[in-house]
Amino acid sequence: MSTVQGRLRIAVQKSGRLADRSLDLIRDAGLKWVKGHNDLLYRVENYPIDLLRVRDDDIPTFVADRVCDLGIVGENVLEEGKNGGANAAIVMPLGFGRCTLKIATPPTLPYEGPTSLEGLRIATSYPKILRRFLDDNGVAADIVTMRGAVEVAPRLKLAAAICDLVSTGATLEANGLKAQDTVLESQAVLIRSPIAPEPELAELLDSVIERMAGVVSSQG
Ligand code: PRP
Ligand code: ZN
Ligand code: MG
Repeated sequence: MSTVQGRLRIAVQKSGRLADRSLDLIRDAGLKWVKGHNDLLYRVENYPIDLLRVRDDDIPTFVADRVCDLGIVGENVLEEGKNGGANAAIVMPLGFGRCTLKIATPPTLPYEGPTSLEGLRIATSYPKILRRFLDDNGVAADIVTMRGAVEVAPRLKLAAAICDLVSTGATLEANGLKAQDTVLESQAVLIRSPIAPEPELAELLDSVIERMAGVVSSQG
């Protein structure tokens, strides 16, 4: 659990699809920092705030446990990271990082809807979300979890179909896969901890959220 820091912490993705836009938003909200030698932690100069740069998959847990008070993460990662305990709460959608979690199939697999997946093996990095989708559709299928390179699974005969994020569609196309049903629509969201901040930081937390909301609404 968290200890007294005297500083707010915001978790952002260190590298990947959301990394640059997340920092842009925080900068546009008026926070200033200089890149130091510490790659994990950027120290904001004009407020008692630190930016913690981590793997996106770790952000929901960090915020749920109030290791960080706020975080910026994709809904896909947030949804997959949910567990039985108190979870991070969505403050607002941020309007960037849009992507869709989709079922995708090779040309050799006839697909007429989720029931076409019955009894098959499906590769994904999102086993919980996929399982819920299959259950909702009354489909029994095996899920093989891969951390990355999910798109190669059909060619390697690791799986008959995949469930992966689609943004431009270039990855699917390059691998001869066709997008089918949508499992989840996603974009970046601001999340906050279910645990209150240190009392002397509560006002600052509210004002940071307010300023981010102003930036997002000005971007339409
Ligand atoms: C996703 C997904 C594909 C790619 C699809 O990975 O796994 O590899 O993006 O994008 P496209 O439709 O524009 O080709 P992502 O970059 O989110 O991160 P990952 O490293 O966690 O797979
Ligand atoms: Zn990731
Ligand atoms: Mg990928």
